[in-house]
Amino acid sequence: MKHGDREIDVLIDADALKQRVAEMGEEITRDYQGAPLTALVVLKGSFVFAADLIRAIDLPIKVEFIGLRSYGSRKTTSGVVEITLDTKYPLTDKDVLIIEDIVDTGLTISYLKKNLATRMPASVKLAALLHKPSRTMVDVHIDYVGFTVPNRYVVGYGLDDAGYLRNIPFIGAIR
Ligand code: IMP
Repeated sequence: MKHGDREIDVLIDADALKQRVAEMGEEITRDYQGAPLTALVVLKGSFVFAADLIRAIDLPIKVEFIGLRSYGSRKTTSGVVEITLDTKYPLTDKDVLIIEDIVDTGLTISYLKKNLATRMPASVKLAALLHKPSRTMVDVHIDYVGFTVPNRYVVGYGLDDAGYLRNIPFIGAIR
């Protein structure tokens, strides 16, 4: 598919995203058995996924945001992660569900999980829309995973390329 001057291959179309996100929401709803949940949305890439996922979860739910930036170029993460925006309220004693767009090397999420542990939440689970297992550098347990993707740079549905393409309604790979 042509998008601007770029050719983008559709990897996961909007219907498949919708269906899988609904299934993930049902699974999360079942697992928490009515307990109130704090969704921790990792900005920026997760905001589209999170908006759909929380509406598929039938539980009392609060939403917090955290901004993370990992240094390095598009293809190489250094593992140095910076918090660019922190939560508004403490996560102490909360059941926290991290909502992440993609687990690539795993460095960002492993940093976040360590950081959250110091805040004494009641529990922490991870929902990631995408997993790129071929790039794993640190193993992180993903409690709810949407799709496994090949080793290509993916965009759309919140994921960007140099800030752009977050608004395309499917997951694509730039050719
Ligand atoms: P990790 O630390 O290597 O697991 O990657 C963390 C972050 O890098 C993700 O949350 C994304 O924001 C970004 N990222 C990694 N791979 C991709 C990709 O293929 N497309 C867009 N963003 C990506």
